[in-house]
Amino acid sequence: MKLFVSEGNPHCLKVKAALEVTGVRCSVEYFNHEEKVVPFLNRPAFPALLLPNGQYLFSSNTICRYLFEVNGQECSDVCNQWLEWEATVLQPALLQAPQKPVQGKPSGVSQVLPGLLNVMDQSLSKGGMPYLSGEFLSVADVVLWAALHPVLSDSSLALGEHKCLKAWFDRIAVMRSSQSGFEKALQGNGPQAMKSHMQRQPTPPSTQGNPAESEESERVVSEEEMEATALKWSKGLDACAPETEKQHPILPQEGKRNILLTSALPYVNNVPHLGNIIGCVLSADVFSRYGRLRGWNLLFVCGTDEYGTATENKAREEGLTPQQICDKYHAVHASIYKWFQIDFDFFGRTTTEKQTEIAQNIFWRLHKNGFLVEDTVEQLRCEKCQRFLADRFVEGTCPHCSYPEARGDQCDKCGRLINAVELREPQCKVCRQTPEIRSSKHLFLDLPKLETQLDQWLDKSTSTGDWTSNAKQITRSWLRDGLKPRCITRDLLWGTPVPHPDFKDKVFYVWFDAPIGYLSITANYTSEWEKWWKNPQQVELYNFMAKDNVPFHSVVFPCSLLGAQDNYTLVNHLVATEYLNYEDTKFSKSRGVGVFGDMAKDTGIPSDVWRFYLLFVRPEGQDSAFSWADMALKNNSELLNNLGNFINRAGMFVTKFFEGRVPVMELQQEDKKFLAVVGWELQQYIQLMDKVKIRDALKHILNISRHGNQYIQVNEPWKKIKGGDSERQRAGTVTGVSVNISCLLSVMLFPYMPAVSQTIRNQLNMPHSCINSMLRGTGTFVCVLSAGHRIGTVSPLFQKLEPDQIEALKKRFGGQQPEDEPSNKKRPSTAQPADAAPAVGPEVKTEVGVDAEKAKELTKAVTEQGEKVRALKAQKAEKGVITAEVSKLLDLKKQLAVAEGKNPEPSSQKGKKK
Ligand code: 2FM
Ligand code: ZN
Repeated sequence: MKLFVSEGNPHCLKVKAALEVTGVRCSVEYFNHEEKVVPFLNRPAFPALLLPNGQYLFSSNTICRYLFEVNGQECSDVCNQWLEWEATVLQPALLQAPQKPVQGKPSGVSQVLPGLLNVMDQSLSKGGMPYLSGEFLSVADVVLWAALHPVLSDSSLALGEHKCLKAWFDRIAVMRSSQSGFEKALQGNGPQAMKSHMQRQPTPPSTQGNPAESEESERVVSEEEMEATALKWSKGLDACAPETEKQHPILPQEGKRNILLTSALPYVNNVPHLGNIIGCVLSADVFSRYGRLRGWNLLFVCGTDEYGTATENKAREEGLTPQQICDKYHAVHASIYKWFQIDFDFFGRTTTEKQTEIAQNIFWRLHKNGFLVEDTVEQLRCEKCQRFLADRFVEGTCPHCSYPEARGDQCDKCGRLINAVELREPQCKVCRQTPEIRSSKHLFLDLPKLETQLDQWLDKSTSTGDWTSNAKQITRSWLRDGLKPRCITRDLLWGTPVPHPDFKDKVFYVWFDAPIGYLSITANYTSEWEKWWKNPQQVELYNFMAKDNVPFHSVVFPCSLLGAQDNYTLVNHLVATEYLNYEDTKFSKSRGVGVFGDMAKDTGIPSDVWRFYLLFVRPEGQDSAFSWADMALKNNSELLNNLGNFINRAGMFVTKFFEGRVPVMELQQEDKKFLAVVGWELQQYIQLMDKVKIRDALKHILNISRHGNQYIQVNEPWKKIKGGDSERQRAGTVTGVSVNISCLLSVMLFPYMPAVSQTIRNQLNMPHSCINSMLRGTGTFVCVLSAGHRIGTVSPLFQKLEPDQIEALKKRFGGQQPEDEPSNKKRPSTAQPADAAPAVGPEVKTEVGVDAEKAKELTKAVTEQGEKVRALKAQKAEKGVITAEVSKLLDLKKQLAVAEGKNPEPSSQKGKKK
């Protein structure tokens, strides 16, 4: 036997190490990586093993396995699974590693590798054995060790957290035989040699960014990856998991991943717009559908947030009682979400007896544990209306700049925050009477007293869970200046009553009450709700929301639950979106700008297409915008020309050329390569989805159909079907493979486009069990439609959106031009405090994502600079001087917008005609 290796090639390291460990007799020859040693190949292939019978083996894992077999060590199932995992998951991730070094650190590695190392660490720690497949060193250990060596011995990745993995790694490293194999393979060049080998590989497509970019560079697919994927694929449906019935009620189960998933409870008093929908319910729905396909035991709850001033006001506006308003709008919300196919396990509401019971219980526990403090605050009361006035319902003269129409919380002219009782000549906005100042006693949640506990919990939750970076950052900025007590009571009628006899006319503040809605809604779903909510050991909690809801979920509500000391389940994964804008402005009900939930269905565009586009532009990591033109473009290019085209062609070939039956497939190298590429995209999709990168994961679905279209285009089955036997066979293989890829696509699409996914499955007459199997584990990418399977009737999945149709929709939903809003008006958003309760006492009036201190300074600077500009203009100063000062002013305004958590750009659109 002869082994041909090239220097610094990581695959050669594996076989060299295996050779040392097994002690198999074999001569080794070293070559330059560009040399061709195998006579019948027209490209260099390393490593290669020349067998005694004159045949060659090229796949490094196969060579390793062979060497172990020669040594009498058969490869067990577990061992085979590890080899497959190495080829299809670990290698592709490692190949990304040293491509684009950033400040000396290998990029890519830091993102993907820790998760993969975790997989190994957990397996080693669960098994309690020294090696991956048990008591003894196997081929799997050698292959994985060698694969990881260049990265782990060279990078800054500390294995500190992965104790078992580290022990395993060191154990193998000190085995002299493998060590010497390593050194020989590298010929003394160490990890540097490995690096240069890897740098010779083409750049793999990035997982971020636009799909067109990833098309340009072809990812390297190793022989192992191709063989392993093809082998697994051909096993077919045997590998599928059995279908599991949904139980009722869904409760945590021993030994399962139990996931409790909530979407922020939308305010009942208005109709949600697209931004609200993508921020919470739609994102949560995608993750919930995905989680079920992964086999997680998952409960998804949501409901309407019904208490507070905003509801009282809406009731007054519409001449209904608050309860009637809640009933009316709860139904409106439910029907909108139904149309968008949001598949809640339960959609409840906060105005229920369970809510009162649970909120009052938490209140008493906080009281008993000493986490509530009393304080007196001054508020405005309108005697005519017989109520205390929420800040936004008082108007008066600004105490700072004398602007006569300042609101009770802020002056729109100078931008300063105001305490309503400081307004000069205050007026009730409803009846225009002058309100009186009254003192009133309130209860405050003692956040400072809970701060240490909160810190400890936050450290753990944010380091072990998947918190979006905005969520972590907003939380940090809240904690930075120290917490202050927060008022949890209000002088209102419409709310959960405070049970304390000294506060009997008061209700709970909505932000104390609303998150408790998650618990009470679950309690209305099942009497065993505590199995979810008082079970942090067994349950993982995901909270979905828009970023302005973050502090209530990361600071205030956790403090309520920590203080209640009742073993509550606290959030493990806080998933917050940024904002979705509408075209180049904001959604605004009053100006009729933007698409609201109830209007989407009137557009004639299917619910699935709406879902697709909203998820395609999901504000994940940064603000994004809904645009009609872009929606049409994405529909026509991605859905129609890419995805729909591929699935339709594959199905039509089966129908037209093979009488509706899947043809026999004989996989060639090219097919295996295609399968490996698809398998890799599937891995990326799973890794991203597991981390709730919903928008990024979607791009990998589209990559698959893009590769599929290329595969069909290159192979031209429509021509080959007219050729001789072998050509017809080729047409059959390409068609069979393609139609099977459509099956995979239907499963990957299910979280995003459930109806389209169902249509594809119907058209292909797909077995039911597939949908529940393909996304399990590391992805079960198999041939599900075997030769002879009869498919159903194939028809196009998508329709073109025509320019005139889009123009008409754009006009219809464009609304009026934004009136000249003062730049410091708050932006409308999901969690825009609709409950504008009085600014009582020490309650911090910080907006979310907002740096209040900085904003204050900048507001002052903007005012001063504005005055300077006006003065210069009045003095008719030189144009150049004015321009310079104006540009300073604009810059300050931008900085202010940033500090206020707003998009600094759209303000430039104000007042301009489109
Ligand atoms: O922002 C909003 O729409 C709030 N009603 C969200 C409440 S989330 C939870 F706490 F209930
Ligand atoms: Zn009044």
